[in-house]
Amino acid sequence: MSQFHRLTIKDVRSETRDAVSIAFDIPRHLQAQFHFTQGQHLVLRTELEGEQVRRSYSICSGVNDGELRIAVKRVSGGRFSAFANEQLKPGQSLDVMPPAGRFHVELDPARHGHYLAVAAGSGITPILSIIKSTLEGEPLSRFTLLYGNRSSASALFREQLEDLKNLYLQRLNLVFVFSREQQDIDLYNGRITQDKCQQLFSRWLDVQKLDAAFICGPQAMTESVRDSLKAAGMGAERIHFELFHAAGDSQKRQAREAARAQDPQVSQITVISDGRALAFDLPRNSLSLLDAGNAQGAELPYSCKAGVCSTCKCKVVEGEVEMDSNHALEDYEVAAGYVLACQSFPVSDKVVLDFDQL
Ligand SMILES: Cc1cc2nc3c(=O)[nH]c(=O)nc-3n(C[C@H](O)[C@H](O)[C@H](O)COP(=O)(O)OP(=O)(O)OC[C@H]3O[C@@H](n4cnc5c(N)ncnc54)[C@H](O)[C@@H]3O)c2cc1C
Ligand code: FES
Repeated sequence: MSQFHRLTIKDVRSETRDAVSIAFDIPRHLQAQFHFTQGQHLVLRTELEGEQVRRSYSICSGVNDGELRIAVKRVSGGRFSAFANEQLKPGQSLDVMPPAGRFHVELDPARHGHYLAVAAGSGITPILSIIKSTLEGEPLSRFTLLYGNRSSASALFREQLEDLKNLYLQRLNLVFVFSREQQDIDLYNGRITQDKCQQLFSRWLDVQKLDAAFICGPQAMTESVRDSLKAAGMGAERIHFELFHAAGDSQKRQAREAARAQDPQVSQITVISDGRALAFDLPRNSLSLLDAGNAQGAELPYSCKAGVCSTCKCKVVEGEVEMDSNHALEDYEVAAGYVLACQSFPVSDKVVLDFDQL
């Protein structure tokens, strides 16, 4: 699953002033591998100015759309997002990993479900896929979307959402919140904060009756919405969120440097990947297990290296490691021994990591 495949770009569409969507051609022999579930993402790899760059992008297509499409919104100073918005054209190709991620609940055509999605900016990308697929695959279910943007012009997929609203008048409730465009209802102006969530939830949503909530957007918004839902009585197991970016923790990095200077112990590491085992020694508090394994030529999978995308997920089958940050694994996965290799450092004399046990 962690292998890259070269895919040709079939279509590039300008969605807003600063976002494009990109559809790929999937050759017949790769169709099964690129089959996806709503809410999943792809890891893309290319070379920019002689350096390998990997980034994750969520799929915006519904599961029955018959195409694999992602959307890339320009990030200020961003390398890949600028390249995608300015240079990618149909006919060019990129290295792409098969779809991955667990940002979904399994569809059940018999379910009378009510779901909430809260998105901001490019966070709408996986949410669009989830809403489309759910309304189509669960004909008795309803969806409410709370979607924050600066203005209507910058709201990615606004027209597609309005088309969906026309198709599912009774089953889709759309609420646009704008921070720089005035709307008649005051509650719909501003940013999606904890206070706004509390007001919105108390007025028109019975949070305790929701089957699931999906949240995707900047870290602060994601955490505010999650806390508001919990405060309104929703169980953590029904709240699903996807982060696109997390600020690095420089304090933890500095603490590791200091610990390394005091404790020069070395751990014996074995990484198992694609059926191969590679053994090497690693000074504690130096490189992450991902970087150390790759420096030894292991070709371990990764994308963000920031603990958000879960591409580097693996299982600790022997020994103990410490994770600096985890925005991707659920508690039950951590309890079962799974870790993010990009955030993991050995704390025992011997550590064995298995990337094949997913
Ligand atoms: C699972 C997952 C799914 C994702 N899906 C999408 C998607 O559907 N659409 C999409 O546009 N992006 C998505 N992203 C984010 C994407 O992977 C890149 O991080 C983003 O496009 C920026 O890459 P860049 O090379 O342009 O910026 P970089 O050159 O990596 O970064 C430039 C600067 O911007 C900051 N930065 C990087 N990413 C972000 C961000 N997302 N928000 C705010 N600041 C940032 C960096 O810290 C840095 O200072 C997803 C990320 C993950 C982990
Ligand atoms: S590479 Fe993204 S979580 Fe480790």
